[in-house]
Order: sequence, then C-alpha cells, then structure tokens
Amino acid sequence: MGTRHRAMGRKDSIARTEGQISQAPPASRREPAGGVRLQKVIAEAGLASRRKAETMIVEGRVTVNGRVVRELGTRVDQERDHIKVDGRHLKPAQPQTFVMLHKPPGVVSTMSDPEGRPTIGNLLHGIGPRVFPVGRLDFDSEGLILLTNHGDLAQALLHPRYHVPKTYRIKVKGVLSEEEMQTLRQGVKLDDGPTGKAIVQKVRKAEKNSWIDLTIFEGRKHQVKRMLEATGHSVLKLIRIRFGPLHLGDLAPGRYRYLTDREANALRAIVREGEARGAGNGQWAVGNGRNKAPATSSRHTNSPAPRASSLRSRRERP
Ligand code: URA
Repeated sequence: MGTRHRAMGRKDSIARTEGQISQAPPASRREPAGGVRLQKVIAEAGLASRRKAETMIVEGRVTVNGRVVRELGTRVDQERDHIKVDGRHLKPAQPQTFVMLHKPPGVVSTMSDPEGRPTIGNLLHGIGPRVFPVGRLDFDSEGLILLTNHGDLAQALLHPRYHVPKTYRIKVKGVLSEEEMQTLRQGVKLDDGPTGKAIVQKVRKAEKNSWIDLTIFEGRKHQVKRMLEATGHSVLKLIRIRFGPLHLGDLAPGRYRYLTDREANALRAIVREGEARGAGNGQWAVGNGRNKAPATSSRHTNSPAPRASSLRSRRERP
C-alpha cells in the first residue's frame, strides 16, 4: 500500500503555498455557518474516500459555483452551492451500499480493464450507487470480494493497522509438513519484509496435493502465493473464504448478494473498535475463538489510520 501524507501537514502546506493563488472566495463567504466540508460532500456522493476527495480538491478538479476551490477547509451548502468534480455535477449523497461477490478465476478484480479482460464490473448488474472493490484478488484467484461506495470504510478495512483477517482455502502442491505449517504461522521472510503471524489449518489431503486454510492479517501483493512458495509449495488453487466478519458461504462463483444490516454493522464495528484501541495491536478471535490473531508488525503501516468519526453511518451521526 502506498504512503499517504498526513492530511494535517498537507492541509497546512497547501494553505501556505496556495492560499494566495486559490480562486476561492474569501473565507467569510466560503465557509457558511453550518456548511459541510467539501471533501465530506464528495465522499458521501460516493465518488471517493475523503482522502482521495482531498487530493481532488488540491489538484484543482473541484469547482464550487464555477470557481476552482483548492482549500481543504472549504465548507459548502449542499442545497445552494453548485459543486462539480472534473466538470460534472455531484450527485446527491448515495445510500451506503455493501455487496459481496464471489469472483471466479479468470476475471480481474477491477470495475473496468484497459486490456479488455473480463472484470468484476461485468458480473454486477442493477446496483444503483457506484461501488468499488475493497482490495483485490489475483486474476487466477477466486472468492470473496467486498464492494462498497463507502470510501472511508473501504480505506480503513484495507489499512494494515486494523489487521482485518482474510482466510484463504488453498490447494497446495504436495503436503505441508508440520514444520512448514509452523513456519507459515510464525512468519515467512519475503523480499518486502517478514510476514506477520498467521493461522494455518489442514483441511484435507488429496491424492498428491493437499488443502489448507491460511488466515493472514495483512494484504500484500500476491502474499499468499509468495508465502507458500517460500515454504517450497506452489499454489494450485486459491479461494478467499473470509474477509473480516464476512464469510463466502455457499455463494456461487460469479454471483453476488447485498450484505445484511448485521454484516454491514460488523464492518463498521471493526473500524470503530480498531480506533478505540488505537488500531495498533488488534487481537482477533478466529473461528471458535481459541485461535487469537497476532499483534503483527507495523512495518507496512506508515499511512495514517482513517478517522473513526468519518466511519459512522449517516444514521449513527449526531
Ligand atoms: N494472495 C495471493 O497471493 N493472491 C490473491 O489473490 C490473494 C492473496
């Protein structure tokens, strides 16, 4: 995951360096009492997370009443102000939407593909608000992909500090020895640093090969395949069967369903609870609760954790 700059620091420097050249009206006219921050309005329209909305503002892609606004403190009145992003009117706030898809193999986990390969976008029909995948699965992998228009929540769930567990059912070449399973549990040395602790369980043995369940609390590129390769076994099949509180269950490949309120609330709770405990050393109970997730290293956690206040649903907001 790429480094993000602290919004505060960025805000300060932008105010200093671009204050004079901004075409925004003076602060007295720009910040109506009771107005809403521009980045929040953009995020709630389902266009981007707040952080991405901030970037859009800074890049000069946002106009309010025909003027480019680059200042992050800008407040707007959604009833009266005409807001455009990249020249297009902003839609009114969209209802929060959460969808679980069973991505089949041979499909890219993006909404569109410049190379013309089949995408997960092709599998989703009739979903009103624009939703985006929360993380990726490789082209040849399959399993659970969460999609949402709640950019802030998506960003938090992917943030390594929250240690959201992801369980993969994997068919590996050969059979893992007890020692190799232990190596996977303790952490494997990869070229981008050691992996955190993991949970490994044998599922069944096929003729020459075998199935295991591997739960990891990070989400680096090709992480599972690289971990298995480091122990001398290639991955023959990889299915994500769990993402945080969500379970793939018997959802068929290529099918999707909306999350229940309970599932959506469980996602929100992860982030709230993560914030409450400082999102630094989360302990997750997995399965029957006997296995505890590790307090993994924060080697890849150099970006700020999302703000809990931005993760409450509109209904929960005061
Ligand atoms: N790890 C991988 O190697 N591939 C995936 O698709 C997901 C996790």
